[in-house]
Amino acid sequence: MKRLNGKSALITGGAGGIGAAFAAGYVREGATVAVADIDMARAEATAKGIGPAAYALHLDVTNQTSIDAAIAAVEARAGGLDILVNNAAVFDMGPIVDLPRASYDRQFAINVSGTLFTLQAAAKSMIRNQRKGKIINMASQAGRRGEALVIVYTASKAAVISMTQSAGLELIKHGINVNGIAPGVVETEMWDVVDGLFAKYENLPIGEKKRRVGLAVPYGRMGVPEDLVGMAIFLASQESNYIVAQTYNVDGGNWMS
Ligand SMILES: NC(=O)c1ccc[n+]([C@@H]2O[C@H](COP(=O)([O-])OP(=O)(O)OC[C@H]3O[C@@H](n4cnc5c(N)ncnc54)[C@H](O)[C@@H]3O)[C@@H](O)[C@H]2O)c1
Repeated sequence: MKRLNGKSALITGGAGGIGAAFAAGYVREGATVAVADIDMARAEATAKGIGPAAYALHLDVTNQTSIDAAIAAVEARAGGLDILVNNAAVFDMGPIVDLPRASYDRQFAINVSGTLFTLQAAAKSMIRNQRKGKIINMASQAGRRGEALVIVYTASKAAVISMTQSAGLELIKHGINVNGIAPGVVETEMWDVVDGLFAKYENLPIGEKKRRVGLAVPYGRMGVPEDLVGMAIFLASQESNYIVAQTYNVDGGNWMS
């Protein structure tokens, strides 16, 4: 018995990394999935690789018109929306004294405002169509405590954990579960960016930061996107109906909270 049979899902930032693994996992469990990303060429390639139950949608989570159009496209194609994964995010870092406002604005526009207003549009659709939905926000271990040189990204992910709590408490009366996943360190293109920036600011060879964080994971290695898929399916399924406003660490033992 597939756990997401007949469900319609939208995954923001679904073209690569963790989002693409979720899209494939949801399709394996019987869902129809919108692979929604600002990089349409990559979204199309990802959807094609998954099969006919996945389709690409252009989405820029910083743009309200784009968010509304994506939700409308999912409603037109699949009759409504049952599952939203707020996965799109960007990373940047650097010393506070050199922090450009543009870096702050971009990270908060995508990671925080993008998450909130996509959640809002999805919730409106779910309520309007009387669908008891599931909303999953991608947080991070970075949201559990601050980190030198990473003040903005960590704050953006702490905001995601907080918004997950508030939205979870508010929307459960509509039968919408809002929960989050806090990954640790996962091998994706985002971590190539992280590694390159740590190399610059901590004067390390490329690959060294990755090697160190991998060694420090109690499980014994960095995560891969597939490591997160089980939790993403569980939180999208009926098995998690009684779980409200939580953010789960899926990080090989890095963090306890
Ligand atoms: N990789 C990790 O170690 C790690 C750790 C903790 C949390 N996370 C979180 O998991 C999620 C996925 O991370 P990932 O490593 O797969 O990232 P990634 O960089 O590999 O993929 C992010 C995707 O988001 C898309 N995107 C960027 N801006 C967008 C916008 N404005 N609108 C729509 N899409 C946009 C990109 O095109 C890309 O496909 C993120 O929320 C990230 O913060 C990742």
